[in-house]
Amino acid sequence: MMQDRHGRDIRYLRLSITKACAMRCMYCRPVAMNQPRGEPMLTAGEIEAFARHMVARHRLKKVRLTGGEPTNRGDLVEIVRRLCALDALDDVAMTTNGLKLAGLAEALATAGLRRVNVSLDSLNADRFRRITGVDALHRVLEGIEAAQTAGLRPVKLNTVVVRGQNDDELGELLLFAVAKGIEIRFIELMPMGPLANSWADRYVPETQMRQELAPLVESWEALPFNSDSARRYRVTLVDGRRATVGFITAMSCPFCQACDRIRVAADGTFHPCLMDR
Ligand code: 5AD
Ligand code: SF4
Repeated sequence: MMQDRHGRDIRYLRLSITKACAMRCMYCRPVAMNQPRGEPMLTAGEIEAFARHMVARHRLKKVRLTGGEPTNRGDLVEIVRRLCALDALDDVAMTTNGLKLAGLAEALATAGLRRVNVSLDSLNADRFRRITGVDALHRVLEGIEAAQTAGLRPVKLNTVVVRGQNDDELGELLLFAVAKGIEIRFIELMPMGPLANSWADRYVPETQMRQELAPLVESWEALPFNSDSARRYRVTLVDGRRATVGFITAMSCPFCQACDRIRVAADGTFHPCLMDR
């Protein structure tokens, strides 16, 4: 088995398949879509060969495709099909901004993709545009709908919480997720990208997020930590409905001890951790 210097087994590969993204989220600095072409990238065949090796030699169990924005790769469905053909892989998943999901969900599900995490930072169209740089809330909502219709399950929502931007909207986002039968995960802002210098003013820790949600939530029952990197709770809402809510607390409660992942960038370079250069 592949172990890192801390003796942790590596069973989970996060594979960025492009650095490019059409969004410009205020907390992220992706490569612009209109930059000169020629980003060095592993081909679909190289990705398959690498995954095959990791499965055979290191008992890799799970691959998550990330970016940038993975749906920007024209051969995304092909990549998914090749990875899903590897029997020993338990799980192939993807994180997406949802912009192109409406048109792709069906093909991805047919290719064998199990599940998607979709970023959704606001349900207000103006705010969504302010945070992501793109006036596309409706497209992302359609994408979420299409993912559910295509049978991608579970669909999860990822919300990066930024003080002064969307920290007063967590209740609405939770109610939206509950109505859709989707798990939502609120993500603590990390001190990287364009907000690195104002991080201290923008960062909202889990405790404050839970205070913000308190008027909606009758009870919180912590679920066992399962290495999906979220601190998850089974909640009962004041109206009696039940739901699962997660918090990705990279800053207030790092999960490094339980981390079982490696990252590989689009150009094939290895990164043990997001925070590591
Ligand atoms: N802090 C926290 N999460 C971030 N992401 C990108 N930049 C940051 C940051 N500074 C995460 C978001 C986004 C995904 C692609 O990467 O969850 O949805
Ligand atoms: Fe960065 Fe994801 Fe936003 Fe694109 S959608 S800018 S990759 S956080």
